[in-house]
Amino acid sequence: MSEKKQLRIGLIGIGFMGRTHTNGYKRVGDFFPALEYRPVLKAVCSRNAEKVKAFAEQWGYESTETDWKKIISRDDIDAVDICTPNDFHAEIAIAAAAAGKMILCEKPLARNLAESQTMVDAIEKAGVKNTVWYNYRRLPAVMLAKQIIDSGKLGRIFHYRANFLQDWTINANLPQGGEGLWRMDAAVAGSGVLGDLLSHCIDTAMWLNGGIKDVTAMTETFIKERVHQLTGKVQEVTIDDACSFICHFNNGSLGLFESTRYARGHKALYTFEINGENASIRWDLHDLNRLEYFDNADQSDLKGWRSIHVTDGDHPYMNKWWVPGLGIGYEHSFVHQVADFLKSLETGEKCSPTFTEAHQTQKVCEAVQESAKSGSWKNTGVND
Ligand SMILES: NC(=O)c1ccc[n+]([C@@H]2O[C@H](COP(=O)([O-])OP(=O)(O)OC[C@H]3O[C@@H](n4cnc5c(N)ncnc54)[C@H](O)[C@@H]3O)[C@@H](O)[C@H]2O)c1
Repeated sequence: MSEKKQLRIGLIGIGFMGRTHTNGYKRVGDFFPALEYRPVLKAVCSRNAEKVKAFAEQWGYESTETDWKKIISRDDIDAVDICTPNDFHAEIAIAAAAAGKMILCEKPLARNLAESQTMVDAIEKAGVKNTVWYNYRRLPAVMLAKQIIDSGKLGRIFHYRANFLQDWTINANLPQGGEGLWRMDAAVAGSGVLGDLLSHCIDTAMWLNGGIKDVTAMTETFIKERVHQLTGKVQEVTIDDACSFICHFNNGSLGLFESTRYARGHKALYTFEINGENASIRWDLHDLNRLEYFDNADQSDLKGWRSIHVTDGDHPYMNKWWVPGLGIGYEHSFVHQVADFLKSLETGEKCSPTFTEAHQTQKVCEAVQESAKSGSWKNTGVND
């Protein structure tokens, strides 16, 4: 440990993502021992002093803060990790960039395109290292899909379709807003399932299949009013409960995306399928170690969908874990993102997706919102 270079982390936000990221920082050195850098859990911040102290004791942070600005101003922090709800991403990131800190920011990058543009401007001006936690890219099966596509095995791509389905907001008595339910409040979240769920699908899609050129979309808010936890009043719901869109990719393929929190029976079903001239690929988060692959060049009497168990040593990331045949889980995607970030400090390369790349996803989200409002096709402005 002593001969390793340190990356001193200041984590802001101790909810779901605060835990997944901290687990990543803690595990990475054990499973990626060759990395030159080691994360050090220097400080953690949340507004409730008692809760943040308990979190620090449980997870092993050296110190606590209750004001995120203190994290930014500390000389013993190298990297600021933003795990707050979306309404604080921009303010914290811009301040962190101005202070010369590296930034690891949760997704979606911002609540809207104008906000994410200010963040891109800030990191470009400061020249600080940055990444956005679109973590699904770092699951071995999804990375294998990327390698297969990049090898050209699919040939010309015709179709890309993705779903992200949940069912936790169907109850009309569920309140909106406040701790734990900020995703239901557009002022905090920016949008509903579009920014929360579809942004993941859009990030993966553009990484695998290139830029999305234009979109036509629809959104729906099924329950129009709910009690707001903070005001105690019944207020209009302004997030999208469901959002679907079709699109053209810049490579000429067609896309079909659907997301909802009203698909009874689904908790977090993220799936995608890509159909090419020569082969197809599909993946399902509920069976995340598997990639299904159909190759039209297979011998005709044996032709069919193969279910590849992506757990062999020559599969992405898997030589760092157990023995072939034993799977890994959701949390490993965050360990992998930490490992890739640390590696990028060694190589000087970027750790994708950067703010600039995540800003492309914001462009698509903005076009989806505009199209749903106007009922017409919208160009995204994503050119590559
Ligand atoms: N990558 C993924 O798959 C994934 C999954 C879930 C959430 N997210 C993203 O992560 C972020 C956090 O989501 P979550 O599910 O962890 O939320 P959460 O509600 O579980 O936790 C948010 C935390 O931030 C704290 N917080 C809020 N405002 C703060 C402030 N001003 N200063 C300090 N702390 C503050 C809250 O007290 C809480 O501890 C969101 O941007 C969300 O979209 C990403």
